[in-house]
Amino acid sequence: MLRDMCPHRFAPLSKGKIISDQLQCPYHGLRFNSNGQCVFNPHGDGVVPKAAVTRTYPVLEKFGLVWVWMGQKAADPAKLPNFDFMDDTRWTYVKGHIHGSGYYELFTDNILDLGHAAFLHTGLSAPAFTIGKRHVFQDGDTVWSNVSHPNDFISDIMNNMFNSHGKRFDAWTDVQWTAPGSMSLLSYYAEPGTPKEDGHMHTSIHVMTPESPDTTHYFWAFGRDIHPDNEEFSAKLRAGIEYAFEEEDKPMIALQQAQVGDRDIMSMRPVLLAGDAGAVRARRMLRKLIAQEQSNGEEASDQKQSVDA
Ligand code: FES
Ligand SMILES: [Fe+2]
Repeated sequence: MLRDMCPHRFAPLSKGKIISDQLQCPYHGLRFNSNGQCVFNPHGDGVVPKAAVTRTYPVLEKFGLVWVWMGQKAADPAKLPNFDFMDDTRWTYVKGHIHGSGYYELFTDNILDLGHAAFLHTGLSAPAFTIGKRHVFQDGDTVWSNVSHPNDFISDIMNNMFNSHGKRFDAWTDVQWTAPGSMSLLSYYAEPGTPKEDGHMHTSIHVMTPESPDTTHYFWAFGRDIHPDNEEFSAKLRAGIEYAFEEEDKPMIALQQAQVGDRDIMSMRPVLLAGDAGAVRARRMLRKLIAQEQSNGEEASDQKQSVDA
């Protein structure tokens, strides 16, 4: 991946176009190869200045996403979250992307505590998220934030999927967070009193990528094994999910960001409720991993390089 800044007059290269495997800057037309090296100068004698290089970052393509390493280290597949189910043909996915106002941890909090569903999302609301039993624990460098709730009603979006309006289920929702902001969310719905594995299941991922201190790219995918080839069903499902994320979560997080500003939300001494345990653990783990990285000198040298570049 190339840094989004041309070394000439610093135009965003992302607005350029690809010409014969080279990226042409949209402003004065310098062209760069995939190593960030300028290889074509349309001006004057055409000599390419030595300094005409833009920084590159290592990437990996996995689980249908491109993962970028913004620091000094090489890409390390061991650091990716476990999204194996994304490559499993059993699941049919609808996918989407949201660009939102808000520090990325505010978006992460939103998934680690689904207790907001009853108040913000009528279509996704289910008693389990508010009164279910919570089980939060660490697993290596990851954090699980799980909820279970027996014999109760489930959300409309799930009822539409299972055609189960008015039925009760035992329900489990297991969220696994991997630093810095990737989460899998696995939901299980079983006949009351029957094992979790015998019920319906669906998968989803929620990947938060910080763009700036107060904006975030949110990539999501939702997998089902019901009506796999039904495109009309996919379109309805996508519309329901997009409505919840775009029209309900996103504006609320933007308002929250406006209140919090550039402060760390934990420094404001927030009141903590039962559902906050997962988000608190994840923040603690993230800070520990950042401190480890900084003690290796990685982040400091990266910042210097960015400023000097
Ligand atoms: S800013 Fe890119 S060529 Fe001038
Ligand atoms: Fe939400």
